Amino acid sequence: MSATSLDQIVSLCKQRGFIFPGSEIYGGLANTWDYGPVGVELKNNVKKFWWDFWVTNRDDVVGVDAAILMNPRVWEASGHVSNFADPLVDCKACKKRHRGDKLLEEKLGVEEVAGIALADVTPRLIKEKIKCPDCGKVDWAEAKQFNLMFKTSQGVTEDSEREIYMRPETAQGIFVNFKNVLNSARKRLPFGIAQIGKAFRNEITPGNFTFRTREFEQMEVEYFCAEKDWKKIYPELEKASWEFFEKLGIDPKNLRWRQHDDAELSHYSALTKDIEYKFPWGWGELQGLAYRSNYDLKQHEKFSGESLEYLDTETNEKFVPHCIEPSFGCDRTVLTALLDAYHEDEVNGEKRVVMKFAPAIAPIKVAVLPLSRKEQLTKKSREIYDMLRAEFRCEYDETQSIGKRYRRQDEIGTPLCVTVDFGTIGEDDGQSKKDHVTLRERDSLKQEAVPIKKLLEVVKKKLSA
Ligand code: GAP
Repeated sequence: MSATSLDQIVSLCKQRGFIFPGSEIYGGLANTWDYGPVGVELKNNVKKFWWDFWVTNRDDVVGVDAAILMNPRVWEASGHVSNFADPLVDCKACKKRHRGDKLLEEKLGVEEVAGIALADVTPRLIKEKIKCPDCGKVDWAEAKQFNLMFKTSQGVTEDSEREIYMRPETAQGIFVNFKNVLNSARKRLPFGIAQIGKAFRNEITPGNFTFRTREFEQMEVEYFCAEKDWKKIYPELEKASWEFFEKLGIDPKNLRWRQHDDAELSHYSALTKDIEYKFPWGWGELQGLAYRSNYDLKQHEKFSGESLEYLDTETNEKFVPHCIEPSFGCDRTVLTALLDAYHEDEVNGEKRVVMKFAPAIAPIKVAVLPLSRKEQLTKKSREIYDMLRAEFRCEYDETQSIGKRYRRQDEIGTPLCVTVDFGTIGEDDGQSKKDHVTLRERDSLKQEAVPIKKLLEVVKKKLSA
């Protein structure tokens, strides 16, 4: 990423069709975002890349796609009903609402505030003379716990019997299917179960574009093992997690590991390390790697009454497996890919914006561009386009000047452009030979003449390099 601001990315995303503000024609809905034509390709490519990396290319991980709506007892068992909450305080003067713990942390630090009782939040805010960030007064109401889960109701009446939650993490859809997967996929420990899907959290402070939203997608693996093996497996998953981002094309200089201290650990975790990215506003979490012990499976045993034990056929020992969880934010990974790909350079004295995505995640792999709209050229270009699009996501574009079309392809990060010019159709333009096209590389701007009959092979080679 060259020094870029979030505003530049937000504006490019809208202009080029990566990401639009949600419900825009109705004035929007705060902090909702819709992926546009190239954005959805990018996001789907990120998900495919993740699935190939964590599932297809491993023989110890299988996938599931569980329902978003689950039995509400799941969230009692997981601890989300009682623990997934933030202490909120209302300013009595301006009526604005804030996270009491965050206001205290800003002044006193995380350590000092960790584990503070709900009843102590407001007295401490007053004692420390912490002002409302909106109106500057120190006039706080009593702090209240605010659960981050979205509630909805199932069926036609809205009574508490029918109250259910939108899942706040995909992980529980994996835990509740542990036995089904064990019985059907016949996996032996250690093995993982992966899932990609939407999660919902009624975040109090969403923001920074798609970094923190109330509806987002997660890509999670629950990797099950015997307790004695977790210390050996954790570093292996740590290495794989880092490698995932490197292979995705993220500059490792913009990544770092950060271990949670005791105060920060989630209610289920004994060890968590995050991979963070250097966002324009500072370091922020991209992925968490949590050792969850056998907390979740044990809780589900307790609440469901079903045994979730595993039988080790070698030792004849029965136990509830432990679990390590690499949990990735999909939208955050896409945002990272966008920020990291953004580059500016100069071509013929003009500024060029170019998105240097790794070919595997580039929304469009090849653009086919006839030099003019002359029928012979467009016909030949369409033939070439049809040949290429059987293999890759391609775009055909005959509008505007060739310079403008190159600029658009650079801004959506298309690695290769194929230009069909007069030489291609046998008219001497002093540039290219008959039955040859010009292949232009996005990053180096190198242009080479390639015979049409060899084009597919050359493009394949360049995209896999
Ligand atoms: N199952 C574990 C879990 O959900 P988490 O750290 O709360 O752990 C995992 O979330 C990942 O999901 C984070 O690293 C982040 O990338 C993403 N994520 C969490 N909350 C998010 C939000 N409000 N908006 C976008 N992504 C979010």
